Amino acid sequence: MAKKISLTGIKPTNLPHLGNYLGAIRPAVQMTDSEEYEGFYFIADYHSLTSVHDAKNMREYIYEIAAAWLALGLDPKKVTLYQQSHIPEILELNWILSCFTAKGLMNRAHSYKAITQDNEENGRDADQGVNMGLYTYPILMSSDILFLKADVVPVGSDQLQHIEIARDIAMAFNHHYGDVFHLPKAQVREETGLIPGLDGRKMSKSYDNHIPIFLPQKKLKKMINRIKTDSTDPSVPKDPDSSLIFQLYTHFADPKMVSDMREWYQRGIGWGEAKAELFKVIDAHLVGPREIYNELMADKSKIDRVLEEGRERVRPRAQGFLKEVKEVIGVQ
Ligand code: ADP
Ligand code: TRP
Repeated sequence: MAKKISLTGIKPTNLPHLGNYLGAIRPAVQMTDSEEYEGFYFIADYHSLTSVHDAKNMREYIYEIAAAWLALGLDPKKVTLYQQSHIPEILELNWILSCFTAKGLMNRAHSYKAITQDNEENGRDADQGVNMGLYTYPILMSSDILFLKADVVPVGSDQLQHIEIARDIAMAFNHHYGDVFHLPKAQVREETGLIPGLDGRKMSKSYDNHIPIFLPQKKLKKMINRIKTDSTDPSVPKDPDSSLIFQLYTHFADPKMVSDMREWYQRGIGWGEAKAELFKVIDAHLVGPREIYNELMADKSKIDRVLEEGRERVRPRAQGFLKEVKEVIGVQ
């Protein structure tokens, strides 16, 4: 039986963080460990062009995201890793899809609405700082997903609406031309769909509350010490379930360690101790990947090779599918 297609992308906008890892990278890699799925994972560089306007940074971020995927277990022999801008057909499809996208659908996109609302609340013009790339972002994302006929898209819960939009656009097109596009499904893991950051809001590169995955040990420790806590005395029992530190701990420790830690919270734990324990498990988890990451970043030729292979595997598919779509709409 043909394998199902799992596809996801990460924007190279800064260092990849623990939210990206737990919400997208780890589930995506685990899916392709099973025989059920074939993985296509990519670096969404044209998406980050909506905000990254410095070539040197862009180049560096692309390598960082690619190195993170490889260091965290993506096997490039089994899974295809590629760079979005290497596949120009995605942009051609983007235009075609935009002609089937109601403008109102873009107006309702959460990410666009959040910016316009913030502008209005602060007395600025609603569209200040919004370029057209940002406004039509969900169409490009639909193109990413639809051209490879993805079945499932492993993402954090913040991306659910975007995948709904991809389905809406696909249905609008199919309504005219029949079953051309395959409808994708989002896959969000309940436990890791929304990882909080240092300040308790969603961990995000854009909120400056994120813990990068690949920090040197000392810096990682410092970051973890920045997690907000109150001044409750160490001896006072604490509720593990409302603690950000405990929550992060559960994603890296084994079940026995988690239940021991739960008891420690209930007996009374100092926040300093809780942070030290959290550092220990995260650090232990990342020792191996960090080494691979550093090696890849020191000699980027392996990353270049993997991305080149990705291009070679994906482009023929993209060209073949685009030809079909062009025939269907009557331009070929
Ligand atoms: P950011 O919000 O930091 O810019 P991206 O938008 O590049 O991150 O997200 C890449 C992937 O990581 C997406 O699938 C997204 O849902 C997931 N992700 C990002 N932040 C989190 C988080 N805090 N918790 C869970 N998943 C997340
Ligand atoms: N918008 C996603 C994010 O910000 C990144 C992305 C671009 C993506 N294209 C995609 C994710 C296609 C899944 C599928 O996280």
